[in-house]
Amino acid sequence: MKVRIGLLGLGTVGIGVYQIIQNHQIQLQQQVGCAVEVSKVLVRDVKKKREVEIPEDILTIDVNDIINNPNIDIVVEVLGGIHPTSEYVKQALKNKKHVVTANKDLIAQFGQELLKIAKDNQCDLFYEASVAGGIPIIRSLVDGLASDKITKMLGIVNGTTNYILTKMTNEGTSYHDAVEQAKALGFAEADPSADVEGFDAARKMVILSSLAFSMNIELSDVYTAGITNISKEDIEYAKQLGYTIKLLGLTTRRHGEVDVSVQPTLVPNHHPLATVENEYNAVYIYGKAVGETMFYGPGAGGLPTATSIVSDVVSVIKNMRLGVNGQTITHQHNKRTIKTKDQIFSKYFMRINVKDEVGVFSKIANVFLENELSFETILQKPNLNDRGAEIIIITHQVSLQNFTNSLKAINQLPEVIGVQSSYRVE
Ligand code: NAP
Ligand code: HSE
Repeated sequence: MKVRIGLLGLGTVGIGVYQIIQNHQIQLQQQVGCAVEVSKVLVRDVKKKREVEIPEDILTIDVNDIINNPNIDIVVEVLGGIHPTSEYVKQALKNKKHVVTANKDLIAQFGQELLKIAKDNQCDLFYEASVAGGIPIIRSLVDGLASDKITKMLGIVNGTTNYILTKMTNEGTSYHDAVEQAKALGFAEADPSADVEGFDAARKMVILSSLAFSMNIELSDVYTAGITNISKEDIEYAKQLGYTIKLLGLTTRRHGEVDVSVQPTLVPNHHPLATVENEYNAVYIYGKAVGETMFYGPGAGGLPTATSIVSDVVSVIKNMRLGVNGQTITHQHNKRTIKTKDQIFSKYFMRINVKDEVGVFSKIANVFLENELSFETILQKPNLNDRGAEIIIITHQVSLQNFTNSLKAINQLPEVIGVQSSYRVE
């Protein structure tokens, strides 16, 4: 028996998948008891120079050579994007091909629909590589922690932004240079705004929270803010106060109500997530029984991501041999209930520029009082010429509603030049 794979895409991840399947043949055969071959590869240009040696006769520009080819057993989708990818994946499943994908856009938006098509056609649809690259986080949620009740997850789930923030924090690299480096290293999405605006992380948090809470979380449920406005000053003040700024995915569940967000967050330096650097990812999980546990590893890059893909291929083949494809239990049995702003609590950092004059601070304190907000830490920097004096505050826990009201009120004070930035504090 030989299992034939059709690979859709031969970019950063596709090359990694091809290399692992070629180079780990013996180990793969030991795992699944048969040969595994990449038989066809879809590209846009067969003549394009690639960073892998690959026989030209297996390259094709016609997707039908894969999705409508009766000899292909498993389709590995590493094209990215929604169109035409979703159409290709649906067609492959309808033709009873198992699908393995790294595409979080597709799974976050159309996961339930695709899983149903897969099930109806007795096919597997696996997507381990769609979240946190080489970390087996989906298996850990679905299998390892299946018996526990997860109450909270914190995740650094985008390698590109973690790389950019690490370079800015540790080496003083400019935002622009750090973005270019992340692109050159193959971590960034085809459109890097998906990374820096937080959308890629939001899609991953949809996938993780839906699995953790057995709930149909939608992308519109995720409050999303990216890293484009984080300044050198924010990074420096965070450092002075003992924090590191990370783009953090956060999801919590209390009394069946859930909130999900992706936003720059000040993480205390003693927290394990503060030490996760460069393209590395980590997901920190709070379970009622397990307590606190962290999953850490490379979150982007060709070979780490390909490792997750090939592990899904192995699972598909094992299911083929047992005759149990398409029987994965994916039932989302909990009603989708999203918390309102007055049910979400956190500490916050804010950096405010004010006129350097008598009484300013008492005005800000009044706003805090009216919104039941209290100060945890205050730092004041002297007059910064045109920017006035600078006040940096870390608050105690407050509802998102009260914090939003406070920000608005502070911005309207005549003594305030402007609130320059505000971030969640973990
Ligand atoms: P990439 O380097 O841009 O590669 C995409 C590949 O797909 C290229 O070979 C491209 O062909 C081909 N392609 C795209 N659209 C096509 C079409 N319509 N017809 C034929 N070929 C097409 O992307 P990547 O970084 O490998 O990412 C692939 C997927 O993995 C994405 O869903 C991404 O989100 C996900 N992912 C990436 C990483 C990572 O670290 N890069 C990690 C985890 C998940 P050409 O070569 O001819 O342009
Ligand atoms: N662009 C993504 C990231 C790739 O940087 O995390 C991995 O999903």
